[in-house]
Formats: sequence, structure tokens, C-alpha cells
Amino acid sequence: MKKFLLLQLIAGCLFLMTCTGDPAMVKVERLRCEMLVNPVGIDNQTPRLTWEITADVRNVYQTAYHILVASSEEKLHSNECDLWDSGKIKSGQSVYVTYEGEKLKSRDECFWKVKVYTNKGMSEWSSPASWSMGLADQSDWQAKWTGLDKSFSWDNPDNYISRLSARYFRKEFRLDQDIQKATLYISGLGFYKLHLNGEIVGDQELAPTPTDYTKTVTYNTFDVTQHIKKERNTIGVILGNGRYFSMRPKVDERREVRHFGFPKMIVQLEIEFSDGSGQTIISDDSWKVTADGAIRSNNEFDGEEYDATKEMPGWDMPNFDDSLWLNAELVDPPGGRLKAQQNKNMKVMSIVRPLSITEIKRGIYIMDMGQNMVGWLRMKVKGKKGDRVKLCFAELLNADGTLYTDNLRTARVTDIYTLKGSDEEIWNPVFAYHGFRFVEITGFPGIPSINDFEGQVIYDEMDRTGHFETSDSTINRIYKNACWGIKGNYRGMPTDCPQRDERMGWLGDRATGSLGESFIFDHNNLYSKWLGDIEDAQLKNGSIPDVVPNYWSMYRDNMTWPGAYLIIANMLYEQFGNMEPIIKHYDSMKKWLYYMRDSYMEDNIMLKDRYGDWCMPPESPELIHSQDPARKTEGAVLGTTFYYHMLTLLERFAKLQGKLSEAEEFADQALKVKDAFNDKFLNTTTGQYSNNTVTANLLPLCYGMVPEQYRESVFKNVVDKTMGEYKGHVSTGLVGIQWLMRGLSDNGRPDIALKIATNRSYPSWGYMIDQGATTIWELWNGDTAMPSMNSANHVMLLGDLIVWFHEYLAGIQNKKGNIAFKEIMMRPLILEGLDYVKADFRSVHGLIKSSWKKQNGYFIWDITIPCNTTATICVPAISEEHISESGKRVASVEGLTFKKMDNGYAVFEVGSGKYHFTSMLDK
Ligand code: BGC
Repeated sequence: MKKFLLLQLIAGCLFLMTCTGDPAMVKVERLRCEMLVNPVGIDNQTPRLTWEITADVRNVYQTAYHILVASSEEKLHSNECDLWDSGKIKSGQSVYVTYEGEKLKSRDECFWKVKVYTNKGMSEWSSPASWSMGLADQSDWQAKWTGLDKSFSWDNPDNYISRLSARYFRKEFRLDQDIQKATLYISGLGFYKLHLNGEIVGDQELAPTPTDYTKTVTYNTFDVTQHIKKERNTIGVILGNGRYFSMRPKVDERREVRHFGFPKMIVQLEIEFSDGSGQTIISDDSWKVTADGAIRSNNEFDGEEYDATKEMPGWDMPNFDDSLWLNAELVDPPGGRLKAQQNKNMKVMSIVRPLSITEIKRGIYIMDMGQNMVGWLRMKVKGKKGDRVKLCFAELLNADGTLYTDNLRTARVTDIYTLKGSDEEIWNPVFAYHGFRFVEITGFPGIPSINDFEGQVIYDEMDRTGHFETSDSTINRIYKNACWGIKGNYRGMPTDCPQRDERMGWLGDRATGSLGESFIFDHNNLYSKWLGDIEDAQLKNGSIPDVVPNYWSMYRDNMTWPGAYLIIANMLYEQFGNMEPIIKHYDSMKKWLYYMRDSYMEDNIMLKDRYGDWCMPPESPELIHSQDPARKTEGAVLGTTFYYHMLTLLERFAKLQGKLSEAEEFADQALKVKDAFNDKFLNTTTGQYSNNTVTANLLPLCYGMVPEQYRESVFKNVVDKTMGEYKGHVSTGLVGIQWLMRGLSDNGRPDIALKIATNRSYPSWGYMIDQGATTIWELWNGDTAMPSMNSANHVMLLGDLIVWFHEYLAGIQNKKGNIAFKEIMMRPLILEGLDYVKADFRSVHGLIKSSWKKQNGYFIWDITIPCNTTATICVPAISEEHISESGKRVASVEGLTFKKMDNGYAVFEVGSGKYHFTSMLDK
């Protein structure tokens, strides 16, 4: 009997296992909606869902999924899905699966889970995840745009270096019932800081994200249930200038930054009571306001001035006496459509501890952060009421140890704190940030110590996608510098630099750079947002500016900067599987290209170019731009190669959408452009394009424009020029560098790419390191060039370097023609001089790892391939017989299929899992 019961128990367990899956084996994790974890307040009616699969065994792929979406967690728990039950869908798709349930309304809450079926059994239901809808319809907004359209005696709004104090708004209200839920929607332009009952809401800084406010205004949504109480409540909002109130208004001929108006806000707090009734508190002229608070001035370029003696304790709490405050005004709306913000806000992402403080003159201290960082200082200070501490920021020092500020142009980058004279005071600015390594401290009561300061590093909140390390210390340092530069320039748009009076979203800087960045940061939603900004900035005639959002008006018409629009859309599709930008922007992209064609094309040659191969190494050290025609690449070469590349991208985009006749049209045009280009620029005797610069030869090679019979000689010219005239150094600027490392490697000279990557002599990234750089410079000769355009924290000269690290040295790539790493190509470049590479990359399907080393004639390679993907793995080898995997001969390893030998690599097809290869390199 006992035996029978036991058998029954075992049978029962087996039955359960087949019904619910073996939880130890296949799991679904990292559920994301629009690539965000449990987002609050999105307004996409058909959001896209993504998950990751993990398993203990190899070769796992999804055969079907089942998604449940319910309007409450309880319902979801009992599988009662009133919003969507997808049913079991036979599909391998686990990335960007479009919601197809009930029509979603503003404020809907959606709880979801997913179960996957795989070739190795099914998973349990995932843990629940959620998203909520924001105010999808403009008519959902009852709140009014509220502000104060005036300045005060202490302001200086019309000066070129404009000054405006922050505006503090407050609203008290009473609630008489128990609260079930409270949701707050806010946009405050330029920046807002939200307080509720004395507490700051959220950890976002410098929010919301910057846009052309006349076209798009983003709002943020917060679940504030925990902040609100029955009885008396107070909302407080501080508004800073951000990009709304111009840092540099138009006063004379100098370059102005676009001005939108005085700061303004829209706030809507919706409260649901336990009995089902509700109440809404909105921004309007019933709010009180003062501009006479502690933040006396705030300006992104110049810094923040804070007078703690002007603090108003309790201003953001009930029972504060605001009788002297003014009434807030109803003001004109900014004009743009209110949209839920889908890219994350900035926040404090890490801390830098200062290295040293030196007194360079009596009372003047220079603090070294040890790193050129972006953010602000948090300071601890104790002194008398009225003491003023002044902090000036710079990237570099002069030879005498004082701050070097020439390259900041008109930006004053100075924070001033006036003490209230209580106990210890702790402060950081809230509406200004800086790009700096060194800080001059004056007026500090007593002797400042490094323990009184910390650097708070601020950039857009985003996950790290990858890491890279190799045996070469120059490459590792360049990579580190690049990471600092890249993150420091993410602020709701990718900026060119974070320190001088510029900080603009220059398109050209990020064309290829954004691809490299995707191997380090999950910037998918940021760049998707930026493409929206580009569309907002497009003129009716089709012209796209070089700076977006267009805080500077730069409609200069060229191919190389606006081309980033298409290049980045393609990157988002390939790296993240994000097809939406292509669909959304296809018409505007086409319009731009046709505008360029109709305005500037002659006989299929695109004549218009504006910047040349920007910032190539010039002939003499003090120059910013080369004046030597032999070094400069002809504009029509840049314009036409880019134009051709754009046509091939549009052809692809058209095909992807099934617009086959349009695709054909683009292909036809591309052919004509290619022929015209070769007729005009290719010297068929010498294999030289135009004046034979590396860029002129490299671009047609990499874009596939060179007739087959000339490829070899054209490439030879790239090599000869680089190795001869430039002695193994880079000779390109922003445009050519986008293909330099890949172009050299793909055409058989990866050794030259490695030389360029590891050079320490000028011009090189290594040279920058030797001059003390902890980020990447704007100019190859940043140490000697004139200061007017010489930032120490630009990322544009990285070109395709980071792409090369990850795709070539680590060998992690999308298989040709594939996207989102569903089919992976692992093919590391094995170069003399590099002994190991350790890299990982969290693709949208999951973690990919490539870690190889050379050891005693063996190549040892550890690989991780995520579930629901497959990989082609190319192991450097004499033959497949000289390779083992986890100690076994490869022929005996299940799921490892040998395909062929290819150029010194044994090619295998594998499924997901971890692999450990050992390959004998020398007989
Ligand atoms: C910016 C660059 C930009 C360039 C184009 C510079 O001032 O800093 O990054 O691409 O101008 O003109």
C-alpha cells in the first residue's frame, strides 16, 4: 500500500512537472514593457513586451508563448485576464511582442505575466510585471499651464549671461477620506523639482527631458499614494530654467540659445478614495508662488547660486504662511503636445571621491576629482551666516596650478553657496550641472578637506549593457575614458560636450558612435526619443538641422550630420530589434533625402557639404582645422558617399515595410549615384578617389561603391597613406573615423587597426592619455590647439572604435542580415599583441559573453549564448580536430555542429548555453 502511495506521489509530481514545467530548467525573467521595467504612465496604445529566458541546459529556444494581461494583480494571480489572453502563440519572438488586447484607456493599470514553451519544456508563469497608462488624450488634462511671466529686481533676464531665480510654487489642499491611490502627472519647464508634504518625489534630476517645447512637451508620472494623507497636504514645485528660459538670450550678434519663455508647469494630481470616489488637484491660479527663495540664480552654463539664508522652512508642507507670496498666473501653454516621457530622466548614477585639495594661494584651493566627470559637487560646510563659498569648475589646470577656463568660452560654471550659519550644512545645486575635473574653492569657512565634498555623477538613468577588457593597457584606458565621456554626455539627448557654453545635440557626433555606445549602455529609449526630436526639428521643406533639439538654429544642409537620423534608426533596429523608429520616421527621412537631392544634387553627385572631415589632425599643432587641401577630403566625396549610403538604408527600410517598388526606386538611384561617383572621383590608373585621403578611399570601400576590380588598389592606397605619410597613425576626422577600424580589419589589415588603437604618439587616443586625459578629446591636438573649440570631453572622435572592440576583438556581432542578436556571430579577431579579451554584452535576448585567452599555443574561449538565440561560432583553429569543448572532442558534443573551416576558423552552429573551447593553435 505504502509503495502504491509513493508511486502515486511520484506520478503526481511528474504530472505536475509536465503541466507547470520544471522551474529549475526554463525561467522567464526581466519582463519589460517598451523596454522599461514596470513603467508608470506610458501613452503607447499598443505597448511592446519583452522577456528573457534562462535555463540550466543548453540549446533552449522558445517555440511558443502565452501572455496574460489583467487590470489588477489579483485578477492576474487567478488567471482572470480581462485585458488580454494571448492564448498559446506559436512563435519564437520574445522581444518587442505587441500587445493586442482590449483597447487601453488613459490611467489603465495593466499587470502581466508570460509563460514560454521551449524545445526543452515549458516555464512556470513569470513573476508578474506591470505598466500603467498615462494621460493619453490631451483632453485628459484638466490642469492649466501655470507660471509667473515676470522677472524681479534681482534677476537679469535680458542680459546675454541671463540670470533668473527659481520659482517656488505651492498648493495646500485637504482630503477628507481614506486614500486608495494617488497619481501625479507633471511637466515643469525647463526643470522641475517636485515636493509633497516636505519630501522630494522621485530620484530624477534635471527633469523632464529636453525637447523643442513648441512641438513636444514630455510629462512624468508618479505613484504618490505613499506621500498623500487624509487631511492636509501640500504640493510644492520648484521650477528652474533648464532649456526653457534661455541661458544666452538674443541681445547682440553673439550666438543665442533659443528662448521659449519664463518657466511654467502643468501638474495634475488624481486621488482615488477607498469608496471609489475621486478628487483631482490641478495647477492653476489658485496656487501661490514666490521667486524670492534660496535659489537666486540658475543657468545651465553658468551655475547655480543658493542663499541658504533665504530658505523657507516648511514651504512644501501644510500650515506654512504664504501670505506674502504672489498668486500664480495662468500662462500660455508652451505649444507642444503633451507626451508621456519614455526615456528615463537623469539621476545621480555614481559618486566620485576627490583625490586632493591644494591651497594654491591664501584662501584659494584647487580640488582634483581625479576624473573628468559630469554632475555636481555635494558639499558639507559649517560656518557663519552669510559666509559665501564659491565653487568654480574646469576640466584642466594651467601650468601654474590655477583653473584653465579658456575652453569654456562664456560659460561661467560657478556655483555659489551662502551659509545660513546653523550646524553643518549640506548642499548641492539642483538646476545646474558641470563637466569638470578640477574645482576652485574660495570663501570656504575653515580649511576644506576632501571629506567635505563628493562628486555626484549625473546622467540619464540607463542600464549598462556591456563591458570590455583586454591585455593591452592602452586599450583598456581608452575604453574607460570613452565610458566616462559617453555617459557624461547623455542628458535626454546626446550632447557634444558637457562643459562649455554649448552642450548641444549635434547629430554628426553620434552617427556611428551610437552603435559603439549600444555595447556599453542601454540607450535604446534615449535614441528613439532623439529621433522624435529630429522629426520635430525638420522644416516643412524637408531640411534637417545639425543640432537637435534645435536650441541653436543650424539648418545648414549637409549629408554627414543629418544622416545620423537614418543611421541611428538602423542601429536601433539592428541592435535592439526596435522597428518602430523606422516605421515612424520613414516619410520624414525620405522627405529629407529628396529635399537634399532637389536642392543640391547635380548629375547624381551630392555637392553640398558643410563640415568636411571635421577635426582631422591638422598640419600644425595650434590649428583646429586643417588648411591644407591635400589633407582635406572633398565635400562632394563626403556628400555623395553618404547620400549613397542613405539610399541603401532607405531601400532596406522600404523592404522591411513591404514597400517593394519604393525599395526598387532607391536601389536604382543608388546605382546611378555609384556610377556617377566612380566616373567623377575614381582614378582607375592609381585606384585613388579624389585627392587620395584615407577618408576619400575608405568611405566608398565601406559603403560598397568601389567596382570589384579596384577594391584592392583602393585599399592599398588607404594602407600606403596610413603607413607612409601618417606613419601608422590616424589621419581622419569625425567622418572617416566612423569606418576606420572596421575598414582596415575587413580588408585584411586589422594589425594596422590595432596599431592605431594602441598608439601613444600623436595623433591617437593613447596620446590623449599620456597628456592626462580621463575622457576623450574633441581634437586630436587638444593639448596644443586654440581653446575656442577644444573640449576635453567629446566622444565624436571615437568613430567605430568601440564597435571594433566588441564586434571584432571580442567577436560579438549580429549574424549578417540578422537583428537583435537572435542569430549571433561569434568571431574574434586574433591579433599579435593581444593575449586576452574579456567582454560581455546584455542583448535584448540576454547576456552574451566572449572571453578568450592565448595560452601556451592554445586558444581558450569561454562563451555564453542566451536562450532563444543561436550562434555561429568561429574558433581560431588548425582544424576542428584540434578543438575540444569542455574537455570533450567537439565531434562528440551534442548540439555542436561543425560546418566548415573558414580562413583559419572552425565554424560551428550552436544553440544557447555556456561553452568552453580549447583550440590548439600550433602543431
Ligand atoms: C561641436 C561638435 C559639432 C561641430 C559641428 C562643434 O562646436 O562641439 O561636436 O559636431 O561643432 O560644427
